[in-house]
Amino acid sequence: MEQVLFRHNKPGRPVTFAEYQAEGGFAALKKGLKELSPLEVQQAVIDSGLRGRGGAGFPTGKKWSFVPRDLPGPRYLICNCDEMEPGTYKDRVLLEANPYSLVEGMILAGYAIGCEHAFIFIRRGYETAAMNLRRAIGEAREAGFLGRNILGSGFSMELDLHVSAGRYICGEETALMNALEGKRANPRSKPPFPAVKGLWGRPTVVNNVETLANVPSIITNGPAWFKGLAGIPEAAGMKLFCISGHVRNTVCVELPLGMTLGEIIDGPCGGMLQGKKFKACIPGGASTPFFTAEHWGVPMDFDAVAKAGSRLGTGGIVVFPENTCMVAATLNLTTFFARESCGWCTPCREGLPYVREILTRIEAGGGETEDVEILREHVKYLNYAFCALAPGAMGPVEGLLRLFEDEIREHVVKKRCPFKN
Ligand SMILES: Cc1cc2nc3c(=O)[nH]c(=O)nc-3n(C[C@H](O)[C@H](O)[C@H](O)COP(=O)(O)O)c2cc1C
Ligand code: SF4
Repeated sequence: MEQVLFRHNKPGRPVTFAEYQAEGGFAALKKGLKELSPLEVQQAVIDSGLRGRGGAGFPTGKKWSFVPRDLPGPRYLICNCDEMEPGTYKDRVLLEANPYSLVEGMILAGYAIGCEHAFIFIRRGYETAAMNLRRAIGEAREAGFLGRNILGSGFSMELDLHVSAGRYICGEETALMNALEGKRANPRSKPPFPAVKGLWGRPTVVNNVETLANVPSIITNGPAWFKGLAGIPEAAGMKLFCISGHVRNTVCVELPLGMTLGEIIDGPCGGMLQGKKFKACIPGGASTPFFTAEHWGVPMDFDAVAKAGSRLGTGGIVVFPENTCMVAATLNLTTFFARESCGWCTPCREGLPYVREILTRIEAGGGETEDVEILREHVKYLNYAFCALAPGAMGPVEGLLRLFEDEIREHVVKKRCPFKN
C-alpha cells in the first residue's frame, strides 16, 4: 500500500535531513516557491480535497482562503501539536519518525497565506518529537529553507517551537493562541474567527500536524493524485489511524480514507485480543460517540462516519471487548473531560462534574431511573457551552444513551454493575 507520511520512516530511528532530501524531500518547497504563486499553492490544496486532521475535518485550502490577502501587516500560521485527546497519538508517532514533512508543509502553507512568522505549539510531554523538530528547524534554516529570501524567491519565514504548559484545552485553537500570547488558556468567542483576528489580533491559520505534513506530497504529485489515494471516491488522501485497546496489535498506521472499521481491526490490528468478541469502540478520539458491531462495515471517512452517528475526529480508535461495562468506560472518559474543563463557562464547569457524579452513582449500583433523563438533558444543554470541549465530552455520553440504554437500566435495576461478580 502506498505510504505518504510514513514513506520516509526508518526502523527504530528518525530519518535524517540528508535521507529525506535524497528521497525527494524539499522538492515540493523548491517547486512551490519557484514555479507556483501563493494562490496556486492554495488552489492545489483546495483541489486536493485535503480536510483538517485535527478533529473537525474542515477543508484546509478553504480555511487558508479566509485569510484576507489585501490587509497590510503580519499574519500567522500555527501548527497544533497539542495532541492531548485520549486515544490519539498519531502526531507524536509521525514526528518521532520524520519532522521534515511538517517543516516543509509549514513553509509551503506560510507561502500560500503570506505568513512570515509561524509557530509549532507542542505538547509538553513530547520531548523526542520536540528534539527532532528543533534539529529539523535548524537544518532547514542552515540550508536556506527558512529565514530571509528563501531560495531567492523573495519570501521570508521564521519558524519557532513553543512547548505547551500542558492542558487539554490548550489544543482548542483560540485557547492555544491565548496560551501562545502568555495569557490564561481560555477559549475566545468566535466570531471573529482566527483567519480574520487571531494571534495578537492578526489573521491566523491553525492547522494540525498531519494536515500540514500532507501538503508537500500534494504539491509534488498534484491534487488528483492525492484524491485518488483514498479508498472511496467521496474521500481524499490517506489518514493516520492510531489504534489502542483490546486488539492484538496496537499500532499507528497510514491507511487510505474509506477503509472500513472491520478491515482496520482485522487487518493491521490483527483482530481482537485473546479471541474476545468486539463490543464497541471510540472511532475518533475520546470526544466521539461509540461505534458497535453494527458499524463494522462503516467506511472510515469524515462523511461516512458522521452519517453513521459519530465523528472520524482524530482517527484515534479505542477498542472495547465483549465484557466491557460501557457505563464504566464512559465514566472514565467523562472524568478526563471534567478534570480538563477550563472553568470559564458555567454549563461545562458545573455540568461535567455532575454528569461524572451520576455515572459514578450508576456504575456503583446507586443509580435511579430518572438519571437516564437527567443525562439526556445534559447532552442537550452542554451543546450550548462556550467552546467545543463540552459538546465533545458529551459525545460518548450521547453514544451510551443511544446504544447502551439497556445496560444503564440493568445497573439501576440490579443495583450493581452487571459486569462485576
Ligand atoms: C478541547 C479541544 C482540544 C483540541 N485539541 C486539538 C489538538 O490537540 N490538536 C489539533 O490539531 N486540534 C485540536 N483541536 C481542534 C483545533 O481547535 C483546531 O480545529 C485544529 O487544530 C484545526 O486544524 P485542522 O484544520 O488541520 O484540523 C481541539 C479542539 C478542542 C475543542
Ligand atoms: S466549554 Fe468548558 S472548556 Fe470550553 S470555555 Fe466552557 S468551561 Fe472552558
